Amino acid sequence: MIRSCIVGIGSYVPPRVVSNDELARMMDTSDEWIRTRTGIVERHFAEEGVSCSDLGLEASKRALTDAGMTPGDLDFIVFATISPDHHFPGTGCFLQAKLGVAPIGCLDVRNQCTGFLYGMAVADALIRVGMYKNILVVGSEVHSSALDFTDEGRDVAVLFGDGAGAVIMSPSDDPNRGILYSELHADGRFARALFMSVWDISRKPFITPDVFSTREIWPQMDGRAVFKNAVIKLGELVENTLRNCRVKPEEIKIVIPHQANLRINDLLAERLGFRPGTFVNNIQKYGNTTAASIPLLLDETYRAGTIQRGDLILLIAFGSGFTWASSLMRW
Ligand code: COA
Repeated sequence: MIRSCIVGIGSYVPPRVVSNDELARMMDTSDEWIRTRTGIVERHFAEEGVSCSDLGLEASKRALTDAGMTPGDLDFIVFATISPDHHFPGTGCFLQAKLGVAPIGCLDVRNQCTGFLYGMAVADALIRVGMYKNILVVGSEVHSSALDFTDEGRDVAVLFGDGAGAVIMSPSDDPNRGILYSELHADGRFARALFMSVWDISRKPFITPDVFSTREIWPQMDGRAVFKNAVIKLGELVENTLRNCRVKPEEIKIVIPHQANLRINDLLAERLGFRPGTFVNNIQKYGNTTAASIPLLLDETYRAGTIQRGDLILLIAFGSGFTWASSLMRW
C-alpha cells in the first residue's frame, strides 16, 4: 500500500524581531496584556520589498536540502497563504519561477490557518493516486504589511507575525510511515467573523479611493467568537480523528496545533486528556503565522530531536472561514 510521507522539511522567518514592548510604543497595548491573553512574546516582521514567495523560497530550499533533493526533483507545488504576493496569479507561480522549475504545476490554497493541512491533504491524494511523486507543500505569510498598528487595530495587530514553512511529500510503501488520515471542515456561515473585505468584486469598480478611509482595508475579527468556536470545533475534531483511527490520546507522541493562542491549546490539551508536553507550542516567538504556523512548529520540533521515525503525530488547525482540519501521520 502506497502512502505519502514527509521526506524533507524546512522553515524560515525574516530576521527582524518585534517585541510586545515595540508594539506598545505604536498603540495602546502592553506586554502584560498580550502575554496573558495570547502567550505571544515576540514575532518576526519582513522588511519592505520582501514578499510571501520570498519567505516561501527560503523555507523550500531548506526542505529540499533536508530531503537531499534539488528543485529539479519536484513534480508539483501546493502553496498555502492568505497574504499572496498579488491577487493573481497564485503565489505558487512566483515561487516556481524563483525555484526555476517551470513548467511543473502550481496550486494555491486559500484556506487561512488550515491552509497547510488542506494543502497536505491535496498533495497526499495526488501522490496516492500516482499522479505525482515529489510535491512541495508551502505555507507562507507576510502579515505585517496588512495590520493596523493604531489603537483601533490593536486587537488583531498584536496577534500576527511573518514566516514560512515547507515540506516535501513523496510516496512510500513502508507500512510504518506516512499520512494515515485527514479530516477537512468548513462553516462559511462564520466567514465574516475573521475576514478582510477590501477586495469586494460585487462593487463596480471593486475598489474606490474612499475605501482607504474606512476599516475595510484591515482584517476584522470577532475575537470571542473565534476563541469559542476554536475550542469547540478543535475538541470535536480531535475526538473524531482519534475515534476514526482507533487511537488513544496516550499513543500520540506529539500534537502540532496551529498557533493562534496559547490559551486555546492549553485548554484543549487538558480537556482531551493528553499527557502534559504532548501539545507543543512556539507562538511565544512567532505569533500567529497562519498557513506557516504548522510547518514552522513541525520543523522546530523535528530539529529539536523530539520526533523519531514511526512516532504518531497529530496536526490540527482552526481558523478563518471558519475552517478546521486534522492530519494523523506516522513520522
Ligand atoms: N491591548 C490591550 N487591550 C486590548 C487589546 C490589546 N492589544 N485588544 C483588545 N483590548 C481590550 C479590548 O478593547 C477590551 O477592552 P474593554 O473591556 O475596555 O472593552 C479588553 O481588552 C478585553 O477584550 P476582549 O476581546 O474581551 O479580550 P479577550 O480576553 O477575549 O482576548 C483575544 C482577546 C483577541 C486575545 C481573544 O479573543 C482571542 O485570542 N481570540 C481568538 C483570536 C484568534 O485566535 N484569531 C486567529 C484565529 S486563527
